[in-house]
Amino acid sequence: MSTFQAPKGTYDLTPPRSATFLAVREAISAPLRDSGYGYIETPGFENVELFARGVGESTDIVTKEMYTLTTKGGDQLALRPEGTASVLRAALEGNLHKAGNLPVKLWYSGSYYRYERPQAGRYRHFSQVGAEAIGTEDPVLDAELIILADQAYRSLGLRQFRILLNSLGDKECRPAYREALQTFLRDLDLDEETRRRIEINPLRVLDDKRADVQKQLTGAPKLRDHLCDACKTYHEEVRALLTAAGVAFEDDEKLVRGLDYYTRTTFEFVHHGLGSQSAVGGGGRYDGLSEMIGGPALPSVGWALGVDRTVLALEAEGVELDLPAPTSVYAVPLGEEARRVLFGVVTELRRAGVAADFAFGGRGLKGAMKSANRSGARYTLVAGERDLAEGVVQLKDMESGEQSAVPLAEAVAELTKRLG
Ligand code: HAM
Repeated sequence: MSTFQAPKGTYDLTPPRSATFLAVREAISAPLRDSGYGYIETPGFENVELFARGVGESTDIVTKEMYTLTTKGGDQLALRPEGTASVLRAALEGNLHKAGNLPVKLWYSGSYYRYERPQAGRYRHFSQVGAEAIGTEDPVLDAELIILADQAYRSLGLRQFRILLNSLGDKECRPAYREALQTFLRDLDLDEETRRRIEINPLRVLDDKRADVQKQLTGAPKLRDHLCDACKTYHEEVRALLTAAGVAFEDDEKLVRGLDYYTRTTFEFVHHGLGSQSAVGGGGRYDGLSEMIGGPALPSVGWALGVDRTVLALEAEGVELDLPAPTSVYAVPLGEEARRVLFGVVTELRRAGVAADFAFGGRGLKGAMKSANRSGARYTLVAGERDLAEGVVQLKDMESGEQSAVPLAEAVAELTKRLG
């Protein structure tokens, strides 16, 4: 293995593609920031216990995919596989829910780690932007979050995504459904591991992708028929709000999600251009999670959108983001004195808020102009000894190719004016 190889299942983000990732994070968070969500940052690792209790002992994430470690001091830690448990833990620790303003609305952006089998769109290190609204049970809040994710994707120019929606019931109605489902599943012809799953998390069996399993599942009891009246009313309200907002969704009663904390509303954003890893984002309500990790009852809802998969979806749709050129002015000095003078101009431009760069290393005109072109700069400033003797710099418009001499003392003002 080469020393220059990133660990399996990971990849580096380098320019220019990295700019797209920044723009995607920005676009996903913008609607949240405009809707009362405050920024939260939590550590990249937590006590293992948090995820075991929060995400669920029976999930693949906890049993197979966590990067765990024991510190020299004996603490059992895990790199965070997801953000919800951490954000809720931080809100409880900081007593944000006691500040008298519920829901506590938070958004986050960061790296997450899952020891999964790497494939296209599935990595061991990936990045999410997420939102959590903590402490309120209100279908408007569920609808708000779905609408904001839809708005974020549309603002990026994504069109070929679908929203799958389901209700998983609550602590009143789900236990009875679980039992009915278990009774049905126990009679099927299934392998040992799946049989174990029936006892721990029977809803996950419905999610089994194998055709022979799916065939046996026809006629399985449906959660929809077991929802209590309160859950039914709540779900209908979420659906009506989405419809009123013009957000199209599809009812998907098979949507169970891979984390144990969900209750009632669950949803997933899927994109057909991604192959088997089609979920670009997902979320739902988690009314019991706070109590599961030892807190008070705090009904909550949230989502996380995968940045890596969102970029893949953009590429699959052929969407080119309209990214501004990182550099507006590129300075090319010819000679020692010009180096000092033009670097002074570049510093002044930057202080005036103009993105400017410089041909370093005393290269010749040809090489430096190549770099100027590559930088995407709209203007190039060139100066040699003769120009400086005359007190001017050459200002070249890289779009029109026009070049004119500008008094050195006016260069910054002229460029700020031209760049608007
Ligand atoms: P999740 O469905 O596990 O939910 O992950 C959300 C998104 O993260 C996925 O839709 C996908 O885009 C991305 N993602 C997950 N695993 C990988 C991977 N191995 N490689 C690349 N991308 C990946 C959660 O994490 C919940 N915390 C969402 C939530 C927030 N629920 C309530 N609040």
